[in-house]
Amino acid sequence: MPYAHITGWGMYVPEPVLTNDDLAKIVDTSDEWIRERTGIRERRIARAHEFPSTLGTKAALQALSVANLRPTDLDLIICTTSSPEYVFPATAALIQDQIGAPQAGAFDLMAACSGFIYAVNMAAQAIRSGSIRNALVVGTETLSRFVNWQDRSTCILFGDGAGAFVLQASSQPGGVLSAVMHSDGSGGNLLTLPVLGGRVPANEATLHRGHQYIYMDGREVFRFATRMMVSATEEVLRNARLSKEEVSLIIPHQANYRIIETAARGLRLPMERFVVNVDRYGNTSTASIPIATVEAVQSGRLKPGDTVVFVGFGAGLTWGALAAKWTGPLPSPRKITVSRYRLVGRVRSLLRRLQRYLEGLIWGRKA
Ligand code: ACO
Repeated sequence: MPYAHITGWGMYVPEPVLTNDDLAKIVDTSDEWIRERTGIRERRIARAHEFPSTLGTKAALQALSVANLRPTDLDLIICTTSSPEYVFPATAALIQDQIGAPQAGAFDLMAACSGFIYAVNMAAQAIRSGSIRNALVVGTETLSRFVNWQDRSTCILFGDGAGAFVLQASSQPGGVLSAVMHSDGSGGNLLTLPVLGGRVPANEATLHRGHQYIYMDGREVFRFATRMMVSATEEVLRNARLSKEEVSLIIPHQANYRIIETAARGLRLPMERFVVNVDRYGNTSTASIPIATVEAVQSGRLKPGDTVVFVGFGAGLTWGALAAKWTGPLPSPRKITVSRYRLVGRVRSLLRRLQRYLEGLIWGRKA
């Protein structure tokens, strides 16, 4: 049975920065309150021409470049997002087209902020089963588009960004060691975005009530999060037969510094063992874990051979954790220029559109 290794990683955050002081000009809040209650100092906001697929594509290309893998070698793309570009088509399919990965199946996985852990586990299981060899997992968000900028209890929390992992099959032991996924739909009403779905139509009445915005019961989510971060971490370590002491780094979902701090206390682990960058990006939902991972690698905190635990929670309610032996790129005979494949992919995409258009003319499509 092949092992599923994480061999590539990438991230992209939009350039525009929104600081707490900027927010204090919009709603009744202060830099001090936001920093004390959440640890957030600033967040990134996508520009008008940036979308989940474009952010995700940039992160994905970087991850492929690190893995030294051609987009054309991808068998599967899973995109996790709480702010999909459309209800359908899947954002994963848009990314598949933009990176030029004609052999890959592509679908979106919706598990809110736990999505990235769920998706890495799904990709790893597909590799472990032998049915695929190379997978791309992308977490990408533009939640700023669903935030009510009049609601100070939520607009201070969220930021935009994307992160991606490449997973590959190898006979070398290591990679994903164990994973746990949990849910409790009875808490679905605690954190919700109604209008994207089919139950609450977008009409004057629902828009007037603000159903197009994120609603959150912050206190309840906070209590749930602190409990589940501890239990999921302990469970995933038990399943992998690892002790807490053997873990080099814990990379938690970045929602609130106090949640991470409370979880660290619950696990009796020092904060130095946790990666925290919520101060600079806020809560980027499904993108937060891969973004924190990329920064941990870049700063030298996460190295090949380290044991790492990813743990997250989110709407649903959902939560989960995944333990992995950190690998890095697999040996490869030659260096791949991913941008070249992207260019070929774009040409292929244009030709396919042209072919569809011409076929439409031949078969009598109305102009
Ligand atoms: N600035 C100033 N005051 C504020 C602000 C603000 N931005 N927001 C709320 N307040 C006020 C409230 O109105 C309240 O005032 P009151 O006592 O007069 O009523 C007071 O501050 C305390 O409010 P709480 O909601 O109790 O504040 P709390 O300490 O719980 O912090 C927070 C709120 C930051 C939202 C916290 O509950 C939290 O982080 N919860 C978890 C959120 C989370 O992780 N969400 C992401 C989930 S992941 C996903 O799936 C998207």
